[in-house]
Amino acid sequence: MDASTKILLFSLHTFLLFLHYSHCKTLKTITQTLPLHDGDVLLSENENFALRFFSPGNSTHRFIGIWYNKVAEQTVFWVANGDRPINDTSGVLSINSAGDLVLQCCSNGSLPLWSTNMSTTISDNTIIAQLQDAGNFILLQAPSNHVLWQSFDHPTDTLMPFMKLGLDRRTGMDWVLTSWRSKDDPGPGNFTLRINQTGYPQLILYSNGAPHWRGGPWMGLRWSGVPQATNNFIFNISFVNNQEEVSYFYGLRNTSIFSRLVMDPSGMIQRSTWQARDGRWNEFWTAPEEQCDHYSFCGPNGNCNPDNTDQFTCACLPSFEPKSLADWYLRDGSGGCMRSPGASICQSGEGFIMVPRVKVPDTSQAHVDMSLSLRECEQKCLRNCSCTAYTSADESRGGFGCLAWYGDLLDIRTFSNSGQDLYVRVDAATLARMAKKKGSTGKWLIGVTVAAGVILVLMIVLFIMKKTQRRTRPLDTPRTAHFEDESRNMQDLEYDSKKSDLPLFDLSTVATATNNFSFINKLGQGGFGSVYKGVLDDGKEIAVKRLSKSSGQGIGEFKNEVTLIAKLQHRNLVKILGCCIQEDEKMLIYEYLPNKGLDSFLFDEKKRLLLDWRKRFEIASGIARGILYLHQDSRFRIIHRDLKTSNVLLDASMNPKISDFGMARICGGDQIEGNTRRVVGTYGYMSPEYAMEGLFSIKSDVYSFGVVLLEIVSGKRNSSFYQENPSCSLVGLVWESWQKGSSLDIVDPSMGNMYSDCEVLRCIHIGLLCVQEFAMDRPTMSAVVFMLGTNVRLPSPMPPAFAFKRIQGRSDVSSSGEKANSVNDMSLTVVEAR
Ligand SMILES: *[C@@H]1O[C@H](CO)[C@@H](O)[C@H](O)[C@H]1NC(C)=O
Ligand SMILES: *[C@@H]1O[C@H](CO)[C@@H](O)[C@H](O)[C@H]1NC(C)=O
Ligand SMILES: *[C@@H]1O[C@H](CO)[C@@H](O)[C@H](O)[C@H]1NC(C)=O
Ligand SMILES: *[C@@H]1O[C@H](CO)[C@@H](O)[C@H](O)[C@H]1NC(C)=O
Ligand SMILES: *[C@@H]1O[C@H](CO)[C@@H](O)[C@H](O)[C@H]1NC(C)=O
Ligand SMILES: *[C@@H]1O[C@H](CO)[C@@H](O)[C@H](O)[C@H]1NC(C)=O
Ligand SMILES: *[C@@H]1O[C@H](CO)[C@@H](O)[C@H](O)[C@H]1NC(C)=O
Ligand SMILES: *[C@@H]1O[C@H](CO)[C@@H](O)[C@H](O)[C@H]1NC(C)=O
Ligand SMILES: *[C@@H]1O[C@H](CO)[C@@H](O)[C@H](O)[C@H]1NC(C)=O
Repeated sequence: MDASTKILLFSLHTFLLFLHYSHCKTLKTITQTLPLHDGDVLLSENENFALRFFSPGNSTHRFIGIWYNKVAEQTVFWVANGDRPINDTSGVLSINSAGDLVLQCCSNGSLPLWSTNMSTTISDNTIIAQLQDAGNFILLQAPSNHVLWQSFDHPTDTLMPFMKLGLDRRTGMDWVLTSWRSKDDPGPGNFTLRINQTGYPQLILYSNGAPHWRGGPWMGLRWSGVPQATNNFIFNISFVNNQEEVSYFYGLRNTSIFSRLVMDPSGMIQRSTWQARDGRWNEFWTAPEEQCDHYSFCGPNGNCNPDNTDQFTCACLPSFEPKSLADWYLRDGSGGCMRSPGASICQSGEGFIMVPRVKVPDTSQAHVDMSLSLRECEQKCLRNCSCTAYTSADESRGGFGCLAWYGDLLDIRTFSNSGQDLYVRVDAATLARMAKKKGSTGKWLIGVTVAAGVILVLMIVLFIMKKTQRRTRPLDTPRTAHFEDESRNMQDLEYDSKKSDLPLFDLSTVATATNNFSFINKLGQGGFGSVYKGVLDDGKEIAVKRLSKSSGQGIGEFKNEVTLIAKLQHRNLVKILGCCIQEDEKMLIYEYLPNKGLDSFLFDEKKRLLLDWRKRFEIASGIARGILYLHQDSRFRIIHRDLKTSNVLLDASMNPKISDFGMARICGGDQIEGNTRRVVGTYGYMSPEYAMEGLFSIKSDVYSFGVVLLEIVSGKRNSSFYQENPSCSLVGLVWESWQKGSSLDIVDPSMGNMYSDCEVLRCIHIGLLCVQEFAMDRPTMSAVVFMLGTNVRLPSPMPPAFAFKRIQGRSDVSSSGEKANSVNDMSLTVVEAR
């Protein structure tokens, strides 16, 4: 067949299809007298969903399926005849005399390709088929509306809201997701996602019948292996485990949002929502995502930790050691770990060690007892020598129930900032060693091992290096306290030998790059120190933050923190290139951004013209994503604590990059959420609970983001208002105009009217939600990012802080606030360099 014949045939085919469709019907019900032909459409009442014949991808076969009628991209979420394709457009879906839905083709009247195949024979012409508003295709008996069959009981590759995954223990009905064979072929593929009820029920993804990824058991609020998927203001998740069924389903709090959980032909599970504005499915989470997600990647009794980037991701659980050291060295952990020889764990002083933040082991060998507390669980587990680990079965209400494992512990992984704490049985010696390690004196006692030899060698090397460096010391700093330094370094060596991925800059290099920290190179000054611009030998431009010497933190602690912070990598965060610790100096080296702070644009009469609305919106969204990463997506939770426009730097293409994140950690501030004696931050951006009581949390950052967002929209500084007239603030002004319904009055006039009212109002609305007086009312950053990206209805904001309670009782507040500002303004505010 040559090309022209092909084209001719194709045109003919299209023409025939056209002829065929030209008399197609739109139906609301299928009855025994009104079947659905290829080309017809069955719509749900709300017209959100449509059932019709279709050809997936590049296939020419016809299948009958349900898809989103209002979503631009053809998104099919249910297919009837996935493994029985039709070759042409002769397919007909009808209700036969037995009351079954049947799919037939080729007008040959023989056996149907597909059928609902109910065993009960109801010879009754009151049976109809309809597509419900949730996308459920149902067959019902008309007068009683008794549902005889529903597509939600026969999932294909997509779990829709209100559709169940699991199994009905009475009827044995399995609600299982099965992947398509390929994008062009909806037949059953290699992957199935199901709840397996062996032992304690858990979510498992199978590949050709073998476990591929484990979502783990339901821990009360979420699957153990999908910590990011919890109830939130979009999803309402339900899990049922009783005599009748074990099932999982999710509802939508706003039913006009389209959301789905789909498994693609390669076994990737993805939760996404439709974003009409961009015309695409926006992904919320995906699994499996990384090596550690592979089922039992580290074998029995191994733990996979993706954060071990410079080492092997696999490690043995305490009191275990690799079964095959050779495999272990070759980075193959699948053989797993065995109990260390001589480690007796039966009635010889054994105990438990907590392994924090993990996906709990495979529960097919586990037992649950919901009536026990964690303490009782420990006792119970301790009494039975074959019990190897335990944890709380349900983490809601502070944790209750007892989940205990017997035998090998399979498929454990560590999460960076969520997950369950697992208590693993260890022998008496390991228990004692761990207890000692916790105490501060333990360190020196381990020194008999090989590690000590390594440390000794490193020590000597470092000592020599230090000597030679000192000779070429460029700065004239006093030579005191060096002995103290060296003794401290010996403790740090153990640390050094493990973590070497943070580049250490030589003091002389940094000094040369910055012209010996000359005044000309100084970019700015803040509470934590000064910032200099520098140029390395290779021409690369850097920004050097020279921390003031007062920060009372040991070198090891400091380096530890910097290493952690340096691992945070995100498009909207300034990149840390390394650090320099020498003499009394502690410095952080960042990438240099030529465009300086957002404030230098926003509050400058000329430069603000460069920021049109689109750019401003992009900047605001970028900042939100950066903070979300710090709060949630990064390995550990970082609260910025001093978010403001001058801490948002712009790169050459005006993308926002947050700077100064993690300063509280780096400089030895308190590291947990809670109360702090030292209030860092800048007045005007500080949430009331932080300014007044020193209470900080992720919600204080949300407050600061709200202020930044309102500043971006209005082009006005919150703090300048405060100086002009302390009884009024930008936040107060916006609130007042919001209440009067004249919010657009506060929009930066330099944008002219080149903006979408609707979008600007939405940003003001979100800004007001962020600055609400009570932290618990404020949305989280993930909600903010979502609200910025979609048109969900927003709740009404409660009054902001600082809006009304202004005069009374405020004198003490403003004085403490101002003090914080002058003493601790650690801004990277950029002053003109030359
Ligand atoms: C269809 O075929 C074209 C050309 O062979 C290819 O580029 C495209 O990716 C295919 N689409 C799908 C959905 O498979
Ligand atoms: C589709 O076509 C193939 C090959 O032409 C044939 O073997 C098969 O029976 C046809 N199927 C149907 C349902 O007509
Ligand atoms: C009749 O229908 C069956 C479907 O069961 C199909 O396999 C077969 O090819 C059809 N026969 C003709 C002659 O189209
Ligand atoms: C209908 O069910 C019977 C027995 O339950 C089975 O043998 C038959 O293959 C089924 N037919 C279809 C089309 O699923
Ligand atoms: C499904 O499994 C088979 C056999 O293991 C394999 O050949 C095929 O590539 C797999 N398909 C996909 C989409 O993974
Ligand atoms: C459930 O898990 C057990 C143990 O891993 C396994 O033997 C069984 O085949 C699984 N059941 C299903 C339906 O996959
Ligand atoms: C969430 O789901 C539960 C259980 O299905 C239901 O009782 C509750 O009303 C739902 N809440 C919302 C806000 O949809
Ligand atoms: C320990 O637990 C296992 C599993 O539940 C059980 O089979 C065994 O009988 C228990 N042993 C004792 C001594 O209680
Ligand atoms: C639900 O979302 C839609 C579209 O995003 C929005 O128009 C609607 O107002 C929202 N409804 C509620 C009750 O939040």
